[in-house]
Amino acid sequence: MDQKRNEKPILKIKEISKAFPGVQALDKVNFEAYAGEVTALLGENGAGKSTLMKILSGVYKADQGEMYLNDVLIQPQNPHEAQNLGISIIYQEFNLTPNQNVFTNIFLGREPMMKGLPGKLGFVDKQYMRRNSEKLLAQVGARFKNDRLVNSLSVAEQQMVEIAKALSVQAKVIIMDEPTSALGKEEVGVLFNIIRDLKKQGLAIIFITHRLEEVFEIADRAIVFRDGRWAGEVKVAEATPEQIIGLMVGRALDRSQVHESHASTDEVVLKVQNLNRKGILHNINFELRKGEILGLAGLVGAGRTETARALFGADRMDSGEIYIDGKRVEITSPDSAVKAGLALVPEGRQTQGLVLIQSVERNVALPNLDALSPNYLINRGKMRQLVKKFVDVLNIRTPSLDQQVLNLSGGNQQKVVLAKWLASNPKVLILDEPTRGIDVGAKAEVYDIMNKLVQQGIGIIMISSEMPEILAISDRILVMYEGRIMGELSRADATQERIMTLASGKELQAV
Ligand SMILES: Nc1ncnc2c1ncn2[C@@H]1O[C@H](COP(=O)(O)OP(=O)(O)OP(=O)(O)O)[C@@H](O)[C@H]1O
Ligand SMILES: [Mg+2]
Repeated sequence: MDQKRNEKPILKIKEISKAFPGVQALDKVNFEAYAGEVTALLGENGAGKSTLMKILSGVYKADQGEMYLNDVLIQPQNPHEAQNLGISIIYQEFNLTPNQNVFTNIFLGREPMMKGLPGKLGFVDKQYMRRNSEKLLAQVGARFKNDRLVNSLSVAEQQMVEIAKALSVQAKVIIMDEPTSALGKEEVGVLFNIIRDLKKQGLAIIFITHRLEEVFEIADRAIVFRDGRWAGEVKVAEATPEQIIGLMVGRALDRSQVHESHASTDEVVLKVQNLNRKGILHNINFELRKGEILGLAGLVGAGRTETARALFGADRMDSGEIYIDGKRVEITSPDSAVKAGLALVPEGRQTQGLVLIQSVERNVALPNLDALSPNYLINRGKMRQLVKKFVDVLNIRTPSLDQQVLNLSGGNQQKVVLAKWLASNPKVLILDEPTRGIDVGAKAEVYDIMNKLVQQGIGIIMISSEMPEILAISDRILVMYEGRIMGELSRADATQERIMTLASGKELQAV
């Protein structure tokens, strides 16, 4: 099976180190990638994965160490130089210009000029951009038009634009930093087919993920980092999940039952009646009980996030009634939703959840200023205490509360979003893909926190595209399809097949 593999690595990284104020992000790490192979780079949040990839793609400069591409020493000074060397990166956080259309984004900074015009007087060849972007989009399985504005696209769709953009450059090495975290099952399948294609064409793929099952499906080798150090390398075909997790966390992880039977009561905390949003949501009806975790399953685009946003007042609803603790509430804005006792932890951490240039402390305290400062004066001591508590509970890795959120690793940014809403003490907590991009250890922590919250009587709605997660955590599952609730499954009745059946718009056969 291995005979086709090149003996020599196309990319060789030797003893790279990188420090940030207060953090040794990388400590003499080695890394190799081979043409025609997928190399997975694994490790817990903050292990240094993205940092190494940013060094490789010219975003950061290493403090020491060397990198070789085809045995030639490379020192990319910026992403453009890296691209010219044949190294393309799809960022963990999107790098698109939201108010531009798709084809402009794909060719941003590399706009093709019309031929036959003298000197710099050329015009951008939009025709070419349109035609080529269409091909690239088809290649990644996108179904949207190339003149859509990027900010009108879903997270999954924006990710596809990122991939199309990377494909548009003649790359030798493509780095994908958590490319699947925003995608539903179907899209992941599409992406994996693209990756298999790229492999055949002899590209080296570096693939970062927190989902181990993906490693076993797509990767040839896996390299594991722990605390900024190289912790090990395995051939995936010969490895077990336990072995890889062991390398990641440096200890055996208790993967026992995540679901505890919840103190789910009969008391309804949230009741949604005939919620409609024209063309998007159709007659949504459901109840959530105190102490219950209600899973919201469905494919990307089924209307789960839209339901959450409408409930939270982030999108207008055309009709519908919402009751909290039996009382009708008028939710017209996120502000009024918070006052009514709702909290929403959105998907897509950068754009929706955080003010990146502000500190961890400010971000966590932001929605909670009312409670902390009844007289509009911020009680700094109280604020720090509260923030500290959640930073500890969630094990957020930051050198201090004053660190800008921008500088935290992706998974730790996600935890800050969670902390921010947990601190607002809600009655109903809506979590949209809460463990997306979070490592195995932190996932267990998040489930643990969810269990604790429901024990306190909070009702939780959890949107998740990860089937094992939905099945493991939910007390009850609603499955959506094209803006409708297709069916409800009790914990005992729920199976992967039944959820998929409903999620693809089919009725369940009577059992
Ligand atoms: N620009 C920066 N300034 C300061 N610290 C940084 C910066 N970038 C990264 N770090 C820190 O370096 C460490 C490694 O972060 P990195 O983003 O590489 O982790 P990661 O392995 O990609 O994690 P995740 O799985 O959460 O994405 C973290 O402690 C992070 O806070
Ligand atoms: Mg990262």
